[in-house]
Amino acid sequence: MIPMVDLKKEFTEIKKEVFEMLTEILESSHYILGPKVSELEKKISDYHGVAAAIGVASGTDALHLSLDALGIGEGDEVITTPFTFFATAEAVIYTGATPVFVDAEPDTLNIDVNLIEKKITKKTKAIIPVHIFGHPADMEEIKKLAKKHKLKVIEDCAQAFGAAINNKKVGSFGDAGCFSFYPSKNLGAYGDGGMITLNDSVIANTIKKLRNHGSGGAYKHESVGFNSRLDEIQAGILLIKLKRIDDYNSKRRQNAALYNKFLSDKVKCPKEKNGCYHVYHQYTIMSPERDKIQNKLKDNGISSVVYYPIPLHLQEALSFLGYKEGDFPVAEKAAREVLSLPMYPGLEEKTIKEIAEIINGQ
Ligand SMILES: Cc1ncc(COP(=O)(O)O)c(C=O)c1O
Repeated sequence: MIPMVDLKKEFTEIKKEVFEMLTEILESSHYILGPKVSELEKKISDYHGVAAAIGVASGTDALHLSLDALGIGEGDEVITTPFTFFATAEAVIYTGATPVFVDAEPDTLNIDVNLIEKKITKKTKAIIPVHIFGHPADMEEIKKLAKKHKLKVIEDCAQAFGAAINNKKVGSFGDAGCFSFYPSKNLGAYGDGGMITLNDSVIANTIKKLRNHGSGGAYKHESVGFNSRLDEIQAGILLIKLKRIDDYNSKRRQNAALYNKFLSDKVKCPKEKNGCYHVYHQYTIMSPERDKIQNKLKDNGISSVVYYPIPLHLQEALSFLGYKEGDFPVAEKAAREVLSLPMYPGLEEKTIKEIAEIINGQ
């Protein structure tokens, strides 16, 4: 079976370095929030050109802690997209605030910036754009709206490490950038992990306390926080992969170009907007024949996944928000038509060609 992501192949390439790193960490007896986490934070803040990066336990926690530190809570509204992974809205709900959805735009499936302003009320405190599948959301427009209405911007960069707009990295535009290092992400650890990038040192300090039980020093708790710490082993693995991330992303882009070349116009291929650097965390096509294509791929031993079959406004867990079918036609159409194809740096041209031929022959 051709997998969606070949993590084993990637591991084989870095195995020697990983074992050396593991030995160093295991022998150090320092396993949580130690020198590797600090080194990773420094390298990730430098990579993004921001003042600080803070390691946390997951991408979900990165969103939750950022919202919390930025003062979002009970009674507030946070605008986001219904076409994302559930955690984006979950993090808002953890704070006591209410997610307010704005439909996606058809080309990138990112939040449609032209529809945001209509949804801004006196209660709106923040916008969470999600750089879905690795394509940057329209940060220029989002920042303009945020400035006009005095809103915070929390970027959900879980799928977009290294993506950029005019060479400026996602995660450096908003009040906070939230990354996930879930193993299958384009920068993935070997367990859970997350990171918050930001420029405000006061908020950075608040987040540092929040991730460690509100602690402002040994057993001195200034607030009630969380246990959301990044461990040394994950940080060590991420340091090894961070050195290669630009190469990994550029290989993903080459693979996307090959898919674009080999796939016929029977399916809609992902687009890259002017000035944007898409990192193709997912290579996602759209077709009304999606289910047939997926079955045909399966019959030929090729994996594919529907990210996401149910937009958030139609999720059972969020029914209390009162949305109904028809509210967000673009997100709903996407849920019916999207199909993500195998995508990883080591994917071979002949495999891409084979996958495309199966789809074209459908
Ligand atoms: C868009 C998006 N937001 C948030 C998350 C949550 O990240 P994590 O699984 O690390 O908690 C993910 C990934 O799982 C995601 O894809």
